[in-house]
Amino acid sequence: MGCYGQDLFEPIALGQPPTNIQQQGGHPVPRLGITNATGPIETNKFYENFVLGTQNFPAFLMPYTLAWSKGSGNAQSWGMAISHVEQSQKVFGPANTAIPNSPDSYYINPLGIQSLILSAAEFQSNTILTTDSLLAFSANVHLQPSTGSTSILTMPVVQGMVFITGQYINLQPNIQSSVFFRSVSAAGEPKPGVFKYRITLEDGKVWLLYALPSNGINPNFKLASSTLLQGPENWYGDVQVAKLPSDGLDFIYDDAAGTWPTAGQVGGHAQDAKAQYSLSWTKAGPFSENSTLVMFALPHHVQSFAATSPKTVTNLTLATTTVGNATAVIADYWVLEENELPTSLGFAPWRPADSSESTMNLSAAAVAAIQQVSVTEASQNMSAQTNLNSMYYSGKALSKFATLVYTMHDLADQADLAKTALLELESCFEVFSDNQQEYPLLYDTDWKGIVSSASYVTGDDGVDFGNSYYNDHHFHYGYFLHAAAVIGYLDPTWLIKNKDYVNALARDVSNPSSLDQYFPVFRSFDWYHGHSWAKGLFASGDGKDEESSSEDSMFAYGLKMWGKTIGDASMEARGNLMLSVLARSLQNYFLMTSDNVNQPAAFIGNKVTGILFENKADHTTYFGNDLSYIQGIHMIPVMPFSTLTRTQQFVAEEWTTYFADGAVRDATGISGGWKGIVYANFANINPSAAYSFFTQDNFDMSWIDGGASRTWYIALSAMLGGSP
Ligand SMILES: *[C@@H]1O[C@H](CO)[C@@H](O)[C@H](O)[C@H]1NC(C)=O
Ligand SMILES: *[C@@H]1O[C@H](CO)[C@@H](O)[C@H](O)[C@H]1NC(C)=O
Ligand SMILES: *[C@@H]1O[C@H](CO)[C@@H](O)[C@H](O)[C@H]1NC(C)=O
Ligand SMILES: *[C@@H]1O[C@H](CO)[C@@H](O)[C@H](O)[C@H]1NC(C)=O
Ligand SMILES: *[C@@H]1O[C@H](CO)[C@@H](O)[C@H](O)[C@H]1NC(C)=O
Ligand SMILES: *[C@@H]1O[C@H](CO)[C@@H](O)[C@H](O)[C@H]1NC(C)=O
Repeated sequence: MGCYGQDLFEPIALGQPPTNIQQQGGHPVPRLGITNATGPIETNKFYENFVLGTQNFPAFLMPYTLAWSKGSGNAQSWGMAISHVEQSQKVFGPANTAIPNSPDSYYINPLGIQSLILSAAEFQSNTILTTDSLLAFSANVHLQPSTGSTSILTMPVVQGMVFITGQYINLQPNIQSSVFFRSVSAAGEPKPGVFKYRITLEDGKVWLLYALPSNGINPNFKLASSTLLQGPENWYGDVQVAKLPSDGLDFIYDDAAGTWPTAGQVGGHAQDAKAQYSLSWTKAGPFSENSTLVMFALPHHVQSFAATSPKTVTNLTLATTTVGNATAVIADYWVLEENELPTSLGFAPWRPADSSESTMNLSAAAVAAIQQVSVTEASQNMSAQTNLNSMYYSGKALSKFATLVYTMHDLADQADLAKTALLELESCFEVFSDNQQEYPLLYDTDWKGIVSSASYVTGDDGVDFGNSYYNDHHFHYGYFLHAAAVIGYLDPTWLIKNKDYVNALARDVSNPSSLDQYFPVFRSFDWYHGHSWAKGLFASGDGKDEESSSEDSMFAYGLKMWGKTIGDASMEARGNLMLSVLARSLQNYFLMTSDNVNQPAAFIGNKVTGILFENKADHTTYFGNDLSYIQGIHMIPVMPFSTLTRTQQFVAEEWTTYFADGAVRDATGISGGWKGIVYANFANINPSAAYSFFTQDNFDMSWIDGGASRTWYIALSAMLGGSP
């Protein structure tokens, strides 16, 4: 592994969060079935359904899906059901004929297909599901016949694992199927003490099962009925199952049988514009010492393997639910690389290094246009716009005013006016760092994180977009990080009082190190998927989801700029890497150019996924179906990083599809703040048109979103090339 350069995962801080953030237990969501919960517990990960609600909603491992059967299905099992859905089984929503080429409005993977179920004869209606070690890439799930039983089935659940593995302790294995067994045959002993079975289900699909008895004695699993394959009583050993997509690939599973991952880690280094990061796994199993792991890689991983990463990329692929095909890779760890980190990206309008255009300095005419608008914008009542009952809207407004102050100070030759505005902005920010806003933040000692007190006070779990339940923290706190980065850049003395507060927000969302025991490691960002999940502690049949891919990027940008401002080189470089990884994953999965290969052809015409869940993609939003909202929520906020994540090809295709003259949501006809957002986004490909739009005499300020500044939009379109 490349171990040179800047360590990307140094802890931000190790001490307790600022003491004006009150520490409080009794979070409204109980830690259902979680044992040994002493350290921080992840809240936004793929396995969260096991600890929420009725505990039987699925976990999406990619490509497999697990769900506790809880007596359901043809097999009436109480075990853990395993599902794998083929591309051909996806179900599509109605075509949206308003959009060119009539793309389907959503697609979803059918739930509840119980291909194989790892269960035990002892599992009946008293069965309990418990978990421990809820970590960034993994959790341990346990099924027991009843509370206190010493018989137990343990399943280490890790993203991308090729086998579903169950460790049986003193149970009679019942391998069940609600799809029905067509045939099961013993298939030899590929390794000593590893007994292989070949299972064909009534849907024609083939699965392999490997049984590893602790005593080494052939367990002779017997087909007892069309739903039951049964092992010996009082059995100790491991069972591993995997789906075989085509003949001739058995050897890949045969070689890997007897070992499995139990947890994952991310690490990495950066030097200049190059970063290497690793995903590595802790292994267990009787053959862990002498068998290499096989793990499924997503399309964006396959694109970014470092040449030096020891690996065999196989031709064994399985469809995932929403992120294209997964490819089995033989390796105990992966080294992935990003070679164009946006190191030169700062507060000013910017284009990527590989762009055919570069940014320009502001012309005298552009400076004059900005100065006309900025004075008015800076005279708004900042306190009235920032001191709100919502962390989301407050953060947006703080970031907006920070962008305005920066533009005036650094770009538009208005340093004196900017300094006055900066003082006002500092006092507005300190309402939050003093924790004096209407709903102060709390440090939740149960899950360990910084949440809004809004739900505690109102009893409404959805207030402030569910912040108290760990929804959207990256969206909310990303704006605070950006605002603080600008303030600290312009006034370094301000950092003395405010740095710990801002770091606490960064740690809550994006703690890079398990050494920091006050927060889980990477609550929001998922280093396997390459982007964040917004959904926190809410049970969800379709899994975690994210709507605003651009506010996800805003967090990474805010982190990078905050790291730069406070001189945390690890944080700054980590933010750069997160931006590069986001650009890659968003372009693979969320922002669909016509050549996208990962999303279904019938869906790509939508251009954005809308809300991307682990189990479905739905071209809509949580707040309405206007096409300017659905597309615009992947633009907001239009900031210097937007040109990195949203390529010119993508913006051009999206513009032609929706916003061009005469198109279905012709930009001239959009009303309100979304109009300004859509035109600011247009500056990436037609900066002159954007500049003309924002500088027009009869500009209507209702076209500027509450989190946006017309001053900034003029500077942005001018510097991206629209200056007269
Ligand atoms: C919980 O912790 C106890 C004591 O450290 C340990 O014996 C037990 O195995 C742990 N249980 C799990 C499920 O990790
Ligand atoms: C692999 O390790 C296991 C357990 O130590 C041992 O039983 C087996 O013989 C080893 N196999 C090879 C091929 O070295
Ligand atoms: C995959 O590769 C193996 C070995 O190279 C080959 O035997 C097999 O036919 C290939 N399978 C498919 C489905 O392409
Ligand atoms: C912008 O201005 C700076 C400082 O005056 C100058 O060094 C730079 O060359 C200018 N860039 C362009 C593209 O004109
Ligand atoms: C700004 O708004 C706040 C809150 O609405 C109000 O209390 C304050 O008086 C206003 N300040 C000015 C100068 O209008
Ligand atoms: C995904 O896998 C399917 C089935 O093997 C294949 O038909 C399809 O071309 C693959 N898609 C991509 C993008 O490789």
